[in-house]
Amino acid sequence: MQAAILQEINQPLVVEQRETPKPKAGEVLVRLKAAALNRRDYWITKGLYPGIHSGVIQGSDGAGIVEAVGSEVDMHWVDRKVVINPGLEWGDNHQVQSEQFHILGMPADGTFAEAIVVPVSAIYEKPFHLNWHQAAALPLAGVTAYRAVSRAEVSAGGLVLVTGISGGVALMAMQLSLALGARVLVTSSSQEKLERARELGALGGYQYSQDDWEKQILREHGMVDAVIDGAGGTGYRHLLQLAGPGARVVNYGATAGPPEKVDLFKLFWKQLKLIGSTMGTPQDFEQMLELVSRHHVEPVVDSSYPLEEVNQALRKMADSSQFGKLVLALP
Ligand SMILES: NC(=O)c1ccc[n+]([C@@H]2O[C@H](COP(=O)([O-])OP(=O)(O)OC[C@H]3O[C@@H](n4cnc5c(N)ncnc54)[C@H](OP(=O)(O)O)[C@@H]3O)[C@@H](O)[C@H]2O)c1
Repeated sequence: MQAAILQEINQPLVVEQRETPKPKAGEVLVRLKAAALNRRDYWITKGLYPGIHSGVIQGSDGAGIVEAVGSEVDMHWVDRKVVINPGLEWGDNHQVQSEQFHILGMPADGTFAEAIVVPVSAIYEKPFHLNWHQAAALPLAGVTAYRAVSRAEVSAGGLVLVTGISGGVALMAMQLSLALGARVLVTSSSQEKLERARELGALGGYQYSQDDWEKQILREHGMVDAVIDGAGGTGYRHLLQLAGPGARVVNYGATAGPPEKVDLFKLFWKQLKLIGSTMGTPQDFEQMLELVSRHHVEPVVDSSYPLEEVNQALRKMADSSQFGKLVLALP
């Protein structure tokens, strides 16, 4: 099979022939129809991730058809259309992942390949309403967004701020919040992306690169009930300003680096909750699929590339010009 492999940090991924793996006991072989990129894949190519080693097939997200099963796996899975939960071995504690928790695509071989072997516990029926590209775009961003939205206690009628809206997780967080009946404000680097978010249902959009965007939100909408942020950075201090009394501020990433200042006065006086969130449990994954299916949520796909053009997709991620997910089409 063809696969995109990390040979060296700061070098393009190498697309080459690999032997198709065989499923062992408790595992399945999935013939992949599509895979999708996450910022994690880009961080890994830059060496900005713990435990990187060369020779690993990259990619966390994928969807496809079960081609073969190992022993101890029910034969009913054969020929089923599935999505893969890339977070393995979460463990027993719903609050936090175990030390064994790991994500497909490093250190385990990932989805930028024509096929993959995963534990049967990692596969779920593909939501019926999604095409292959949308299905591949869903798992990692979907489960991360679902847990962030849950931890932010997003509910019908509540006002939620989602930052950096063109990101895969941010878009899903907006779409899931809308599905729950919340009102959603968004930020972005670009006016054009804000327009697209409004078309998808955002109540208002603000350009974080402009001065006083937070004051504009306060003037037009007042404080928010919840914030879902994957950026951090210098803009983080505004999030604590915008958070209303008792609000939840959930962080799932730090694309813009560490915050320069956390105003503890605002934190304690407004009784805020600052919450960290990472991917999710198998139960979160299942509930995310249920919500997505019930509301026919469709992940936004920016563009798709053949596997041989994976480095072009990574370059697009590097310049953040995408709106939504970058997908690899597999034969
Ligand atoms: N904890 C977890 O489980 C988990 C899971 C997935 C991702 N993450 C992390 O979450 C972050 C987003 O991941 P992703 O895959 O959704 O990435 P992505 O699709 O590449 O999106 C990143 C987006 O961040 C926005 N951004 C950049 N600088 C910003 C700033 N200063 N303020 C606000 N927004 C900014 C940009 O949106 P605009 O162009 O609209 O401004 C960009 O498109 C990454 O840091 C990733 O490592 C964590």
